[in-house]
Amino acid sequence: MDERVVRIQEVRRRLVRDGPPWTRDHERDFETVTLPERDCDLLRDLLISERVETVVEIGLAYASSALAIGEALVTIDPPHPRHVIIDPFQDIEYANVGWNLLCLAELDSIARLVGGQSSFALAGLATQEFDADAAFVDGSHRFHEVFVDLYFLRSFVRPGGLIVIDDDWTPSVRAAVRYYEKNLGWTAIPGAFAGGTLRNIGDDPAAEAVPRCRALRLPGYRAEPPFEEFHPF
Ligand SMILES: C[S@@+](CC[C@H](N)C(=O)[O-])C[C@H]1O[C@@H](n2cnc3c(N)ncnc32)[C@H](O)[C@@H]1O
Repeated sequence: MDERVVRIQEVRRRLVRDGPPWTRDHERDFETVTLPERDCDLLRDLLISERVETVVEIGLAYASSALAIGEALVTIDPPHPRHVIIDPFQDIEYANVGWNLLCLAELDSIARLVGGQSSFALAGLATQEFDADAAFVDGSHRFHEVFVDLYFLRSFVRPGGLIVIDDDWTPSVRAAVRYYEKNLGWTAIPGAFAGGTLRNIGDDPAAEAVPRCRALRLPGYRAEPPFEEFHPF
């Protein structure tokens, strides 16, 4: 196996086993915030099967998902692998722990960290000549911010590309994503996260348990629907 992949896997393994070298002073912060290992593995495998070259990620925190995305890119080994990560709080909230783990895994050669809120940073990317094959969305979980993230991602994730959302069990994220499914032809990829973590919708024990991550395929064309064809979501 490529020694770069072995190095990334070792950093991932240690992060799962020992946790990050520093966490915020919140109870079980790492476990609460980070993407669980099996979902990270499913995300990596999905990206490998898509042969992605450029991936945008929103929300770095402790870098579990970023390391999995990096592992996918290094495994595929495309000509110009790129991983653009947006997070306004990596330094002030997370003491750069996630970024330092990416450096330890030698992924800083392909990754770039963009500060600032994703809704603004993505608007900036949308005005440049920038295309991505896939995005992983795990930043703000407020409805309006997720909705705006998806709005801008749609402008530069290529037609037929992939958008993976974390925390589809939260009503705010779920509602934002469902707009794009019902109105813009995004289609869920069935079974992409089967075997991943399940969560009850809204954290209500009586509600349905659903996979926490949802993978969506964008339509193979870019077109705006007539406003008269709005479908409530
Ligand atoms: C749930 S954590 C991400 C966990 C990460 N995927 C992992 O595996 O460790 C959410 C992250 O989103 C970031 N965040 C919060 N609001 C944001 C915003 N408006 N734009 C971008 N990132 C944001 C936080 O700083 C935090 O790092």
